[in-house]
Amino acid sequence: MERLTVRVIINLREILMRSSILACVVGAAVLAFPASVVLAGDDALGSRSYEDYETPQACAACHVDIYQQWTQAMMSQAFTHHWDEIEYFELAVKHAQADPAFDPVQKGCNGCHAPLSYLAGDVPPPRPEEGSRANEGVTCDICHTITGRHGDTSFNFNWISEPGRVKYGNKEGAVSPHHETRLSEFLQTGEFCGTCHNEQNPYGMMVKSTQLEWAEGPYAAEGVPCHRCHMPRAEGQSAKMAAPGMVSQHLFHGAHDAGKVGGSVELRMHPEERELLFDDTVVVKVQLFNAKAGHKIPTGSVEDRIVWLHVTATDSEGTTWHLPVDPKGFDGEHWTIASDELAYQDLGIALGDPSFAGLPRDGVPVGDRIFRKPYLDPEGRMTIQQWYTKSFGPDYRLGPRETKIETFTWQLPDDLAMGEVTFRAVLNYKRLVQPVAEFLNVPADEYETIVINSASTWVEVYD
Ligand code: HEC
Ligand code: HEC
Ligand code: HEC
Ligand code: HEC
Ligand code: HEC
Repeated sequence: MERLTVRVIINLREILMRSSILACVVGAAVLAFPASVVLAGDDALGSRSYEDYETPQACAACHVDIYQQWTQAMMSQAFTHHWDEIEYFELAVKHAQADPAFDPVQKGCNGCHAPLSYLAGDVPPPRPEEGSRANEGVTCDICHTITGRHGDTSFNFNWISEPGRVKYGNKEGAVSPHHETRLSEFLQTGEFCGTCHNEQNPYGMMVKSTQLEWAEGPYAAEGVPCHRCHMPRAEGQSAKMAAPGMVSQHLFHGAHDAGKVGGSVELRMHPEERELLFDDTVVVKVQLFNAKAGHKIPTGSVEDRIVWLHVTATDSEGTTWHLPVDPKGFDGEHWTIASDELAYQDLGIALGDPSFAGLPRDGVPVGDRIFRKPYLDPEGRMTIQQWYTKSFGPDYRLGPRETKIETFTWQLPDDLAMGEVTFRAVLNYKRLVQPVAEFLNVPADEYETIVINSASTWVEVYD
């Protein structure tokens, strides 16, 4: 993994020096100015103290609406919410205990999920029930004291945090009785979000790439950053004493909002022929259009999420059949068609059971198409442990504004009732593959089924 080097910022002129040779040449000049060393990424571990940052409650008195929005967003729960607690303490920390090579990874989780603890060097942080400041998660004073990023690509919390009286925002000349304000161009870019929404693991795999997916898609080209969809602007007051104006709503709604996920992909379907004889074969095509997301679906925690297309046929007497998808024949396609094979054997490392047999890979009806990018462990088995991912299977997700077509070929069964046959396609979403969730006792609301969309069509069948 690329080692992040020290970034030196000279306060007066903000000249950056990355090369040590250059640093030597101008060393005398550096000493002549009041200089501060600001660390980013891995190097920032333990470089600050909790007291350097204000609590979100300190902002709440004036930023009333923004504070309440944030408390409802996943940002405020990035350390405390159950599934995070389970994956961090039961899997990542225990994996690092079993194999110390993963100790930096275990620490690094906090760079994005509990940045204050990471900066304070308090890792692993106390469990959520102990009520430490780790519980603040991705807090106001982290995002609003970020002044830039280290390097050319956003990933692995390579933001630069300079806490203090200045809060960086999106407006010029905002006046506050509590702090100074400064306009930040960086805060308004997708690259800002990417510092936490892209992640590279110890094998060099980009196990989170939301910002990179966005950057190569149509929305970046059109100048539409993440903020327009996840922090939409509306008329209001950004603080109690502020003049009315357009305010960026701190919604950060994503996978945990069924309304955000719902409708994000649009479905239509049609048969190749509308009228058939009782012994014919029907060919039905389904179009899936990612109309709403600025990145692929699924994105982010791709190793956890499962998005699958279920198609059925119902005859005029109400009997229903399940139609498996037609394979397309691409490499690694078997990962994208639901099966009942076992996977996730690598959970055995953290569980102290090296011969762990594994769990059902998908937990959805066999034969359904799954839109995913399989994460594979060093032995080539599917894993939900992103840090233990050494390769990927095919990237069969729905890109922004991409349309994929799935075909279902079905020999009409002998016992089909004549008349109208209705086909129905449903695209479903779960935040976590169900067999894994059940095995790890993850609360049921973390693996509820969200219907993204559905469609239907029909044919007429005659004797
Ligand atoms: C005593 C009231 C008060 C408190 C406490 C307070 N602010 Fe503010 N803040 C304001 C006011 C007033 C503005 C100006 C709003 C405007 O004119 O749009 C402001 C503006 C901002 C801006 C926007 C700057 C810009 O360029 O758009 C940010 C960011 C901000 N505050 C962050 C914070 C954070 C983070 C905290 C807590 C650590 C905090 N504020 C605490 C009153 C407060
Ligand atoms: C994940 C990072 C993040 C967190 C956490 C966060 N903000 Fe922001 N905030 C932003 C970004 C980004 C903008 C600028 C949005 C834009 O460009 O449209 C912003 C804008 C603002 C503004 C100016 C709004 C406006 O349009 O005038 C204020 C005030 C503010 N934030 C306060 C807060 C407070 C208070 C909290 C905590 C309760 C908080 N923020 C938490 C990222 C964050
Ligand atoms: C300091 C790190 C950090 C920054 C910067 C950051 N995020 Fe996040 N974000 C997180 C973490 C960690 C989570 C996951 C919370 C959880 O589920 O544990 C998250 C969750 C989210 C979610 C919710 C996903 C869900 O499951 O519902 C959205 C949406 C989101 N972020 C958007 C943004 C956008 C847009 C920006 C930039 C304006 C941004 N984030 C900047 C760390 C960050
Ligand atoms: C055009 C609107 C749009 C843009 C631009 C956009 N998103 Fe999203 N985002 C969505 C929608 C819709 C969803 C819900 C569907 C889904 O889960 O992908 C979503 C979901 C998410 C999720 C949750 C994904 C999951 O499965 O946990 C995260 C995190 C997120 N977005 C972050 C970002 C970041 C970071 C950017 C910028 C780099 C961004 N988004 C740009 C619309 C957008
Ligand atoms: C580079 C930043 C970063 C690092 C490092 C990181 N995460 Fe995350 N994590 C995120 C973001 C951003 C999301 C939200 C993505 C989404 O909504 O799909 C997330 C989501 C998650 C989720 C899923 C929560 C949910 O909404 O379902 C879990 C669990 C999790 N992370 C655990 C970990 C563990 C354990 C580690 C360390 C091995 C880790 N993370 C390292 C940024 C990071």
